[in-house]
Parts: sequence; structure tokens; C-alpha cells
Amino acid sequence: MEKRSASPNGPSVTAVGLGCMGMSEFYGASDDARSVEVIHHALDRGVTLLDTADMYGAGKNERLIGRALKARRAEAFLCTKFAVRRGDDGSWLGISGRPEYVAAACDASLARLGVEHIDLYYQHRVDPQVPIEETIGAMAALVKAGKVRWLGMSEAAPETLRRAAKVHPIAALQTELSLWSREPETELLATCRELGVLFVAYSPLGRGFLTGQFRSVADLAADDFRRNLPRFSEEHFAKNLALVKAVEALAAEKGCTAAQLALAWVLGRGDHVVAIPGTRSALRVDENAAAAAVTLSPEDYAALDAIMPPGAAEGTRYSAPGMASVDR
Ligand SMILES: NC(=O)c1ccc[n+]([C@@H]2O[C@H](COP(=O)([O-])OP(=O)(O)OC[C@H]3O[C@@H](n4cnc5c(N)ncnc54)[C@H](OP(=O)(O)O)[C@@H]3O)[C@@H](O)[C@H]2O)c1
Repeated sequence: MEKRSASPNGPSVTAVGLGCMGMSEFYGASDDARSVEVIHHALDRGVTLLDTADMYGAGKNERLIGRALKARRAEAFLCTKFAVRRGDDGSWLGISGRPEYVAAACDASLARLGVEHIDLYYQHRVDPQVPIEETIGAMAALVKAGKVRWLGMSEAAPETLRRAAKVHPIAALQTELSLWSREPETELLATCRELGVLFVAYSPLGRGFLTGQFRSVADLAADDFRRNLPRFSEEHFAKNLALVKAVEALAAEKGCTAAQLALAWVLGRGDHVVAIPGTRSALRVDENAAAAAVTLSPEDYAALDAIMPPGAAEGTRYSAPGMASVDR
């Protein structure tokens, strides 16, 4: 598996990683024993960039990863996040970037993961109530204490990223980027390149929509979180599915799957970009990893631009409260 880095002092990680969120929450039923097998399969296959967060399943996802890494910690590049606070009952308690919270959240993550250090520790969302310098200062103390190797941010605006990088090097920015979420192309990708920050593209498959696996809203379980997302709503589904059908046709011409085409497009945004598709299937780990070897020609990029120019998708990527948590 190809590795990528954005700076000589930053981490070198697999171009395609594994997003573990859906193994514990948001995307319908899952099975812990099977998820552990999927994580082991990813490590066997050389997909070592593993992504979780303390809020996924209100701690369940970190415990699951800890179980999977019990005898294999050294093989993984382990990334987790703090800031989106949850109660033990799963309730939503808001965002915190307060220094004392940063320290407590990290200790709690280390305990749940059962590890001595986290490779990449992200602030999941910027706290508008706390100057970013204070939050990053507290995160830098974790590096000094040996609890964390590298620092990251998620959904931070270019200006916030610049301010943060003045306090401590920021190794990675994790933000949504896919054929139907192209906003980072305007400024963020260039800012990351300039600052030597790895861009970690989350939801690179459009939360599964871009793979063509969903043909109607009814394909989602009744409790699937995606039913709350405007792009998956009855109102916008058909229009967005028509875009995906065109992507599927192009993929068929190229002899790859729509998922692989979508991932290859993300990886083509720059050599400082990596993708963390989420899956609960070992077969899909292989399919997604193989996308790193799919080469797109200038004609392919032009065809994808014609199908999905920026703004082509109907509906915002989150509903209003989710959009409000994004730093802009
Ligand atoms: N920083 C943030 O705010 C943030 C937000 C969202 C996500 N994330 C991270 O990013 C990771 C990935 O994002 P995501 O899971 O939201 O979305 P995604 O990777 O775009 O899509 C995941 C969905 O696609 C399906 N899928 C995966 N590979 C497939 C394939 N080859 N063919 C068909 N379907 C496929 C998965 O189903 P199965 O599981 O059934 O295979 C799942 O439903 C998450 O796991 C999480 O770690 C971060």
C-alpha cells in the first residue's frame, strides 16, 4: 500500500485507511466480532491508518479498536478525536476545546483504547468559545507528555488552521472531501499543502451514496443517521442518484467500481491527500485499498468534472445543526 506524507517532519500513512465509525454507530446494525476481523484484515492487507473518535458510539468504538489492537498495536497508525462531548447514555453535550477538557478527554481515550499513546490526536470540531491557541496549547502538552505523537484538526477553516500551526505543528486536517463535497478545493487543500499538513478526506464515498449501493431511501435502516442528511432525503435522493448512475457508467468503462473511481478521484486531489473510507466488510477493505492503484487520465477528471462539478449535489452535506458546528 502506497504511503503519503505532507512534510518531512510529519507522519507517513497509507493512502487509503479505514474509517471505523460505522462499526459502532450511525449506519445501522453492526457486529463487534466481525468488525474486529475487518480491522485485522485491513492490517494484514497493509491498510494501517485507523480512524476513530471518542464520540463514536459514545466510547464504544474506541473500546472496539482497543480490542482489535490488543496484540497488534504496533502495526496500526491509530487516530482518534475529542471535542464532541457525549454522556454515557449517548446524549449530546456540546463541543469543548477547553484545556482541562482536552487533558481529561485524552486520558479517557487512552484508557478505552488500552494503549500508551495515540499516533494522531484530532480536535474533532473547533470550539468557538475557546481561542484556538489555548486548545492547541493543551494538545501540545499531550505531545510533550508522550501521550500523543502528532496533532490534527477536523473541519477547521484555513485561518484557524494557520493560527493553530503557529502554536504547534499540525500534522493533519480531517475534513469531508468527495465527488459530492468539493468545498476544500477552493482554499483548504492549498492551505494544507502550504503548511505541510496532510489532508485526510473523510466520507470519501459520500457516506456510501457514491458507491451506488443505495437506490432509494428505503434501502437505509429506519434508525440510520443518514436519513437525517439532506442529500439522502426523499426530496433530493433521485437527483443525486442520477449523478451516481453517471459515475457508475464511467467506472464500468474504466473497469473499476464506482467506489474505486470515487476514491481515486479523492487521491488525485494532491499527493498530500489520503482517504479513510469506512466499511464493515473485509471484501470492501480490499476493493477500497485497490483504488490506490487506479490511475485517472486528464480525460477521466474532465468527465468527472462534467458529471459532478462543485455544487452538483442537491442538499447540504449536514442538516442545519451539523453545518453550524463546522468552522467557516
Ligand atoms: N471528522 C469528522 O467529522 C468525520 C465525519 C464522518 C466520518 N468521519 C470518519 O471518516 C470515516 C469514513 O466516512 P464515512 O464512513 O462517514 O463515509 P464513507 O467512507 O464515505 O462511506 C461509508 C459507507 O460506504 C459503504 N462502503 C464502503 N466501501 C464500500 C464499497 N467498496 N462499496 C459499497 N459500499 C461501500 C459502507 O458500508 P459498509 O460499512 O456496510 O461496508 C458505509 O455505508 C468514518 O468511519 C470516520 O472515521 C469523520
